[in-house]
Amino acid sequence: MLPFLPDDKNFSYRDNELWCERVPLKQIAEEFGTPVYVYSYNSIKEAFLAYQQALKPYPHLMCYAMKANSNIAIIHLLAKLGAGFDIVSGGELRRVIEASGDPKKVLFSGVGKTYDEIAYALENDIKCFNVESEPELERIIEVAKAQNKVARISLRVNPNVDAKTHPYISTGLKQNKFGIAIEDAPRVYEKASKSDFLKITGIDCHIGSQITDISPFLDACDKLLDLADVLKSKGIELDHIDFGGGLGIVYEEGQELHHASELVEALHQKMEHRGYGHLEMIFEAGRSIVGNSGVLVTEIQYLKEGETKNFCIVDTAMNDMIRPTLYQAWMQIVPLHVYPENCPIKEETFDVVGPICETGDWLGKDRKLKVQPGDLLAVMSAGAYGMTMSSHYNTRLKPPEILVDGAEYYVIREREKIEKLFSSEHIVEL
Ligand code: LLP
Repeated sequence: MLPFLPDDKNFSYRDNELWCERVPLKQIAEEFGTPVYVYSYNSIKEAFLAYQQALKPYPHLMCYAMKANSNIAIIHLLAKLGAGFDIVSGGELRRVIEASGDPKKVLFSGVGKTYDEIAYALENDIKCFNVESEPELERIIEVAKAQNKVARISLRVNPNVDAKTHPYISTGLKQNKFGIAIEDAPRVYEKASKSDFLKITGIDCHIGSQITDISPFLDACDKLLDLADVLKSKGIELDHIDFGGGLGIVYEEGQELHHASELVEALHQKMEHRGYGHLEMIFEAGRSIVGNSGVLVTEIQYLKEGETKNFCIVDTAMNDMIRPTLYQAWMQIVPLHVYPENCPIKEETFDVVGPICETGDWLGKDRKLKVQPGDLLAVMSAGAYGMTMSSHYNTRLKPPEILVDGAEYYVIREREKIEKLFSSEHIVEL
């Protein structure tokens, strides 16, 4: 039986070999070496257009949360499809500009915006600052005054909704560092409305990531609409509601997911019902745009029999893909070549681990694999929060990134060269 593939449209087995669109992944691994990130352009496009299609009847803006995968080729292609961007640093804005994205479709989120970042964003006339605290609001007024400009703002409110996801990626609870408590929001909005250097344009929330059920989004929506009522009674009108990140994705077989259109319809129904159907709907989706579109291909170096466990030691490590060890995230790992039933290689249970000197350096535990050294494996659903969270730990070079479109493929990031890793370091003679 062939292994489960989370996106079985753009990734598939043909004659027992794993392909991305119309390219065998083995060909890419041979040409560029391993580890290597490979993305399917059509998978990204379909995921993005699923939201766009669902949002089409309503005023909307899809802002791709580029922290999920910020390669400028991907930013460029999404911008061409009409995407705006959710950024969390000046560096991310620089990437949008480099990729010919439109700063006027950029939202700036994050709890720690610096003076320089605010100034840079204001110079580029971004769509909106998602303000996360009162001191930040004051800082934005200060910078806007210095530039003699008006900053468009929305408050990121913390609706105290449990997103029922991993605690590290749950953000909408009282104990989280994010947003302004929903009870304080009316007072802060009133304060903002009095400044000549601010224009209130919306309300925003983000309750967490990898949320597979739509009900936490709907609970948050109710609370945002209650707040909109309070603001209306104070004469504060809104242009948009920003619902934060998108839906979760499939990592494991059997996971039930909602389609983007179910989320959009259910939210819009609530807005309509409460008299806010005319407001622009904004999403800051990251994972659901690129997550299932990428794989990380790695080569098996050794199979090692431990005293109680077998280890499949690969050339990819926690520095390339930190999700399993950081969040105990389960990611599907499949062989690029599936051996036939009757072949003498036996299926065994392995922990798939990397070469880094840490016990936490693992990609998957207790995985049944029929493999031998030199075989290639693919970590599936690796398109989001893979490359962007990678590091150089153990002086390991970051993998290249390849984008597949049909039968063509393109290097969108080269494998790093070792010299680059220490070219900005300086030896001192003491
Ligand atoms: N907007 C804000 C303000 C966010 O903080 C995030 C994600 C998003 C949007 C995008 O959410 P998404 O559509 O991707 O669910 N590294 C973790 C995920 C961290 C998410 C942080 N914030 C992981 O690998 O699971």
